[in-house]
Amino acid sequence: MDKFVIEGGERLKGTVKISGSKNAALPLLAATILKKGIYQIENVPRLRDIGTMTRLLNILGAKTEWTDKNTLQVDTNDLDNHIAPYELVKQMRASVLVLGSLTGGLRRATVSYPGGCAIGERPINLHIKGLQALGCDVNIKEGYVDVTAKRLKGARIRFDTTTVGGTENIMMAAVKARGETIIENAAREPEVVDLARMLKKMGARIDGEGTEIIRINGVDELTPCNYKVIPDRIETGTFLIACGITRGNMVIEGCMPGHVKSLIDKLREAGMDIIENEDTIKVAMTKKRPMAVDVKTAPYPGFPTDMQAQIMALMTVSRGVSAITETIFENRMMHVAEMRRMGADIKVIGNTAIVRGVKMLSGAKVMATDLRASASLILTGLTAYGTTEISRIYHLDRGYESIEEKLRALGAKIERRKDEGMGA
Ligand code: EPU
Repeated sequence: MDKFVIEGGERLKGTVKISGSKNAALPLLAATILKKGIYQIENVPRLRDIGTMTRLLNILGAKTEWTDKNTLQVDTNDLDNHIAPYELVKQMRASVLVLGSLTGGLRRATVSYPGGCAIGERPINLHIKGLQALGCDVNIKEGYVDVTAKRLKGARIRFDTTTVGGTENIMMAAVKARGETIIENAAREPEVVDLARMLKKMGARIDGEGTEIIRINGVDELTPCNYKVIPDRIETGTFLIACGITRGNMVIEGCMPGHVKSLIDKLREAGMDIIENEDTIKVAMTKKRPMAVDVKTAPYPGFPTDMQAQIMALMTVSRGVSAITETIFENRMMHVAEMRRMGADIKVIGNTAIVRGVKMLSGAKVMATDLRASASLILTGLTAYGTTEISRIYHLDRGYESIEEKLRALGAKIERRKDEGMGA
């Protein structure tokens, strides 16, 4: 296992290029199951989760090959298997995204039922309810969700809770259903819009993506396509905060500023200078400490839960007291205990963290618990006095492409080392 060793206190300066979005790429790769053929997917980040998705596609019978640094060719011509095994789904919950495309493409899906994860229970009841509404027969057998769809017929589906993965799965199953499907209370995340755009490029008829109501008119045939993944808005946000917490000065390139609007609003309120251009953001922090701001996570276009831990990192050194409320996942505050080890003053009441900013954090040995929590500990390490060692960074490798190289190029003192204390 690897760990990161960070010497805090460097002000980050320079230009950073944002990678393709993990959470957009995963459903786009799953969508290649819908129609046999060859796809070139560009701007795919080289991450562990993408590796898991390609292994899953391989098990289903597809061939995958990197034809360029970030271009993945997927050949689904020989795809014939509909079983997503436990061994892969337990490594990555997003494997469940093949449920919709296997149903749409092969009319048959057997996908290991995902268990809970570090950040919450994360049930898939809404995915199942949606598939049943489309006419699928769904059974839970021996730990697997087994879907058979003799005929898929359009339906009106209202999600009780906004669900990104649920919206994506139902969209993929509905593109080939007979008649019209209306998804109400649909997720509006940019990743959902990106999937809709790829499906439309394949010939699907979809309207309303990016709004609460998505209408899908089933088609008989789709065609394979080439597609370029959108930039990662959570990586963009993480670098914005890296700039704020180190009092840096950066140009963030190849991003979509509109996708991080709710975060930019908060960072401006906290005192950061941010100029948005078409696909770049110029950002600087000239104030000694950020002002405390309150944050409450919400589905897009609200403040993303995937940025909650990182903004908390910024607030640990703010001037004042901030209240950070998590409304999407039940257990997404595990970074709090680690930040306290670095001298942060945080009290958790229910799903709200009350963060009283301190002048300075001190470096410590801390442990990463999930992907975004790990990112937040890098951020606190970058500002802390002394050395911070973050163990279990395999979580980070799931979602941030070349994070240490990118940070080092901006002047951070960060190194990846073997973590002898953690076993191999
Ligand atoms: N939910 C249900 N029933 C369902 C589905 C969801 O109750 O059938 C609940 C969940 O338990 C949760 C809420 O609805 O409380 C929202 O979950 P959602 O389905 O939207 O999340 P997801 O699709 O499983 C994606 C991202 C997450 C991100 C969330 C929320 C991917 C691969 N994952 O998960 O990303 O936090 O949306 O925006 O797109 C990450 O990248 O670190 C990450 C966890």
